[in-house]
Amino acid sequence: MAEILDGKALAQKVRQEIKEIIAADPLLSARPPCLALLLVGDNEASTHYVALKAKMAAKVGINTREFALPAAVSESALVATIEELNNDPAVDAILLQLPLPAHINTPKMLMAISPKKDVDGFHPYNVGLLHMGLSGIQPCTPRGIMALLAEYKINVSGKRALVIGRSNIVGTPMAALLKRADATVTLAHSKSQNLRELIAEADIVVSAAGKAGLVHGSMLKSGAIVIDVGQNYGSDGTLCGDVDFISAEKKAAYITPVPGGVGPLTIAFLLKNALELRLGNDQEK
Ligand code: GUN
Repeated sequence: MAEILDGKALAQKVRQEIKEIIAADPLLSARPPCLALLLVGDNEASTHYVALKAKMAAKVGINTREFALPAAVSESALVATIEELNNDPAVDAILLQLPLPAHINTPKMLMAISPKKDVDGFHPYNVGLLHMGLSGIQPCTPRGIMALLAEYKINVSGKRALVIGRSNIVGTPMAALLKRADATVTLAHSKSQNLRELIAEADIVVSAAGKAGLVHGSMLKSGAIVIDVGQNYGSDGTLCGDVDFISAEKKAAYITPVPGGVGPLTIAFLLKNALELRLGNDQEK
């Protein structure tokens, strides 16, 4: 039976650390980190996530400013809002919740955010630092996953890691971080033809495909480390990951549950990124 990788517990620990750092520092207490949250339109999931981000920020002593822009907002109006926040010395960190409506050019908006306030690490400058192995703000979910592996003293060096899904939010930065940690990385995606074989060979499987039941225990190498980033909702509204947990738990050495695995880490590391931007610090390698 696999050991459960408890993301919820690590997220709680990280939030507690952030809270204590802010409370113990007179400069931070006097002028807490300020995170601007930009929501465009009324996508149900995005609205929920932004509200949750604001609530969790408040719990650790990070201030937020929320901006709800209509779905029909023009690119120029959105850029104007972003630039105002870039130029506001009271704002340390800017988050533009994705996805954006189809008429908006997402990369253009991400490039409008100052790399110094880019709390998601989505600006090409920060993406470049990540891929060069240099210090910089790292995307929250992959950063959280690396921290979870470290928490359980799982050394990825030399291991075969398979990342399923190539999004700029999770899959691609995840592959970059695993490569930086000396894993041998394969990045699979919806066009990959031999996924079964790739899964069978992997010591570490990170599934971020958004497809319930994609990874079954019978496909896994015995003793694999399984990280499930999937957030899929069944017809009855229940949340499940990409991995068939019951079968995978029997074959894996370590596994993240859904919920309670990767999900809570995203917001915890968003808050950590916001604090680090406030402090003007970059992360260690
Ligand atoms: N949409 C889904 N995940 C994320 C995330 O981590 N950051 C932003 N900005 N949007 C998202």
